[in-house]
Amino acid sequence: MTFMLKFVTAAEAAELVFDGAICGMGGFTPAGAPKDVPTAIAQKAEKLHAEGKPFKIGMYTGASTGDSCDGALARAHAILFRTPYQGNKDLRTELNAQGAHYFDMHLSELAQDLRYGFLPKPDFAIVEACDLVEKGDEIEIVLTAGVGNVPTFCRLADKVIVELNEAMPKTMRGMHDIYEPLDPPQRREIPVYKPSDRIGRDCVVIPASKLAAVVKTNRPNEVGKFTPLDEVTEKIGENVAAFLEAEMKAGRIPASFLPIQSGVGNVANAVLGALGENKHIPPFEMYTEVIQDSVVGLMDEGRIKFASGCSLTIGADKLQHIMDNIEFFRDKIVLRPQEISNNPELARRMGLITINTALEADIFGNINSTHVCGTKMMNGIGGSGDFTRNAYISIYTTPSTAKGGAISAFVPMVSHLDHSEHSVKIIITEHGIADLRGKSPIQRAHEIIENCVDPQYRPLLREYLEMSKTAHTPHTLSCALAMHEEFLKSGDMRNTKWENYKR
Ligand code: COA
Repeated sequence: MTFMLKFVTAAEAAELVFDGAICGMGGFTPAGAPKDVPTAIAQKAEKLHAEGKPFKIGMYTGASTGDSCDGALARAHAILFRTPYQGNKDLRTELNAQGAHYFDMHLSELAQDLRYGFLPKPDFAIVEACDLVEKGDEIEIVLTAGVGNVPTFCRLADKVIVELNEAMPKTMRGMHDIYEPLDPPQRREIPVYKPSDRIGRDCVVIPASKLAAVVKTNRPNEVGKFTPLDEVTEKIGENVAAFLEAEMKAGRIPASFLPIQSGVGNVANAVLGALGENKHIPPFEMYTEVIQDSVVGLMDEGRIKFASGCSLTIGADKLQHIMDNIEFFRDKIVLRPQEISNNPELARRMGLITINTALEADIFGNINSTHVCGTKMMNGIGGSGDFTRNAYISIYTTPSTAKGGAISAFVPMVSHLDHSEHSVKIIITEHGIADLRGKSPIQRAHEIIENCVDPQYRPLLREYLEMSKTAHTPHTLSCALAMHEEFLKSGDMRNTKWENYKR
């Protein structure tokens, strides 16, 4: 049977989406996320709200999306719930104001949690494609720059809405490796043994009967620019590279090196740049979540041999560069569902060196990746937990201070815990490296204070340690969050005086 593609406008597609509908948005980061249909849903919500009618949708995504998805829907107050990760300013405001329920999840887990029935299945999958191919009573969907949870959303959703983005070349076909594991007790090992292994199909296949609408679009990736490197981020990058070089020389990392996972954000971008520049580190492979701008340049230079990720979160110019040189890049990049790119089984098996950024750390090695002063959500845990817990060596980087020195990234006790001392092996700032392996809490505290903490905060944190001499993990509970309280009170952690808090 030949199936007629149903071309409609974004507004017509949005009409299909009803109040309370659950939508699984495609892509991962702004890469590959739908744009015109979510904006049209937001406009529909605004219109209905103006008429005094309710309209909100539940929203699953891969990770963050672009402003025309998360931003537009947040500004329209059209989000009922949202998971697993976000990074949009307006959505952050909305969920910190309790305007939307947000549950922050390990990115590898959403697809299986949906299949297990832990979370309600999506009514709609709304995905971006560079090509749609009719094959009898099936449709092949060729994805664009991000895979995210699209295979699972499409399989579980009642209806699929596709944005066919003409700005994304059809030659992207072949970059994706689409694979969904079976669920327990049928699950076998995922047969990826090195980053370049391919185990699935190059497209997502759905029954033609599920395809509810196709919207033609012409939109580049909504990927933002990185802040240029500064002295601090550059030094952090150099320290990470120096650490890995020393580990290799000591024989603790094989001379052929191990695959790198590198997190999101400005610091992560600087770290990758520094790894590329350090010629003592051999050309390496990446098994990561987000393939960022710096990776493409390092591939051109031969410093990165292969990158497996979930998305090409790169600017339009870099994507164009890849497409113009597709023969060079085709066998160097693979994009996988996040269930596979972030899979704990694979991270442990391949021995990933994982490098993620902390928002704050405590002097005992616990990490807060998500909550400012323990209460306000920044972005989410993302894939940091998938990788950290299962790494060969887990590294956390952070500038030692924020807000011009008024905040120390190192505090006595993290105000929110994402990664515990049991999973975190190395912490690196612009000042140096804390190697936490095989150290007791008090040894870790000295290692972190003397190597990583900004010198202006070292006396304060040494005094904190001195206050308790009779415990395995020497906390003084009345003072454990005093630096945060001081920041909220006076705007500067440097004003902290323990005697003002000690009871
Ligand atoms: N308290 C309060 N604010 C803090 C802070 C702290 N301890 N540390 C940093 N900040 C602020 C910074 O001042 C900056 O604010 P601004 O935007 O107003 O200037 C903001 O947080 C971001 O800091 P920046 O240094 O630019 O960090 P980044 O871009 O490297 O991002 C994270 C850092 C932690 C927010 C980011 O890496 C993240 O979301 N991580 C969690 C998810 C993750 O690790 N994913 C990777 C898995 S692949």
